[in-house]
Amino acid sequence: MKRHAGAVLSSITIDKSADRKISIQLYMALRDLLLTGALTPGDRLPATRTLAQEIGVSRTTVIDAVDRLISEGLLEARVGAGTFVSEALNARLAPRPSRDVSDAVPITPRLSHATRHAIPDFVLRTRLPHKSQAFVTALPALDAFPMAQWAKLSARHWRKDRDDITGYGDPFGYMPLRRAIARQLNASRGIKCDPQQIFITNGAQRAFSLVGGMLVNPGEPVWFENPGAIGARNAFVAIGANPVAVRVDAEGLSVEDGLAKAPHFRLAFVTPSHQQPLGHVMSLSRRLALLKAADEADAMVVEDDYDGEFYYGDQPPPTLKSIDTHGRVIYVGTFSKSLFPALRLGFVLVPEGLLESVERVCLTWLSGVPTVTQAIVAEFMDEGMFATHIRTMRQLYRDRHDTLMGEAASLAGDIDLQPTSSGFHAVGLLSADLSEDKVVAAAAARGITTVPLSRYALSRISQRGIVLGFGSCAREEIRKGVEVLKSVLPECRAG
Ligand SMILES: Cc1ncc(COP(=O)(O)O)c(C=O)c1O
Repeated sequence: MKRHAGAVLSSITIDKSADRKISIQLYMALRDLLLTGALTPGDRLPATRTLAQEIGVSRTTVIDAVDRLISEGLLEARVGAGTFVSEALNARLAPRPSRDVSDAVPITPRLSHATRHAIPDFVLRTRLPHKSQAFVTALPALDAFPMAQWAKLSARHWRKDRDDITGYGDPFGYMPLRRAIARQLNASRGIKCDPQQIFITNGAQRAFSLVGGMLVNPGEPVWFENPGAIGARNAFVAIGANPVAVRVDAEGLSVEDGLAKAPHFRLAFVTPSHQQPLGHVMSLSRRLALLKAADEADAMVVEDDYDGEFYYGDQPPPTLKSIDTHGRVIYVGTFSKSLFPALRLGFVLVPEGLLESVERVCLTWLSGVPTVTQAIVAEFMDEGMFATHIRTMRQLYRDRHDTLMGEAASLAGDIDLQPTSSGFHAVGLLSADLSEDKVVAAAAARGITTVPLSRYALSRISQRGIVLGFGSCAREEIRKGVEVLKSVLPECRAG
């Protein structure tokens, strides 16, 4: 015998004060009852007039909702007999659970081997505040960004009738931006390359996972600086790479240590211009040794040049790519530091030997970056605003760095700030009696953000310290931040 759906339908409630139209609310409520199995195929709905009275809405509203469900095939009207729950619904419903629907437990999908193994090894990145605050790392001087110029360029792009920025973009990246980057690399980073070798990515982070996935098989050893960049390492761990913790000293990554631990490495990930996070510049002899080791192991090297433009001296540190004669180095850049991180814009400079494969990947499945963003950045670079901005920021970061070093002199002996030659973060090494976790927690309780150095470690490191970002902090914030650090020291001593 067919059931009558009246009892179930009387549970529907409509909120007449809500923004959503009443007929939509009714349609959604009916749809839920149908799709959760509360109404079953063959059930007959009451007449629309009866239903309208029961729910307290107009008949037209009911007719609207019911018509829509008929057009979707969830209900069916039988001439002279009324409206019924469609038999076709059987195919859309999972077999009915024996228990009440409200008891249903959602399933936990099985993860791939790679993800299951990677998850315990992922190191959490600190969730940073969006706004400027001492001593947030990774944030550039957003207070000094030429937003008026940016807004003008941006508006100009949207006003133009330009199919090239509104249609599907070039999967390799917007050519004027690729050209502008090639020119910039040549002028300021000593790298000669063809724009065709540059591929635009969603930040440097996407470039790491792209090349990692293309070059490294699960289980193959990848050298990482220890301590080193967290996000990049996670990207390689995610594809199943076997991370090898390689010691870092004042000359950068120790090739000798890498060779002792994994001579047959597949890839090395390095930050030669400004070691993340310790701040050292890799020496020339180490660079040559790394390239030689890569040649001998037939390995590739990823060079992450995330803030190399912001050097304080007269000469920028050279890039590894500029001395790569064998096409072993894959150079990755980002606009997260030079412009701002929300752009999610980076790029990878691919050696000739890898070009065809990367082109194939981009053409077939990797979707690109919003073209309008690329077009604005390209114009920003072509009109000279980028170079001016970098020059201004270089001076600003040097000032902020000097302010921090000057203020932090009063912490010496407890927190020893390590000199750095570029970028906008510095490491403060802690004295033996100070606990990293306590300093970080006590400073955070007073509104000061720092990152424990151990967060960057892949395996135990001998130093203990905190990482301080100063890019987005005005002089007064830096001064107050140092005061806070000084004030929390007594409560952070071990014991
Ligand atoms: C070492 C390192 N490389 C690269 C980046 C930039 O990554 P993305 O371009 O994805 O923002 C960061 C960001 O903080 C970083 O710390």
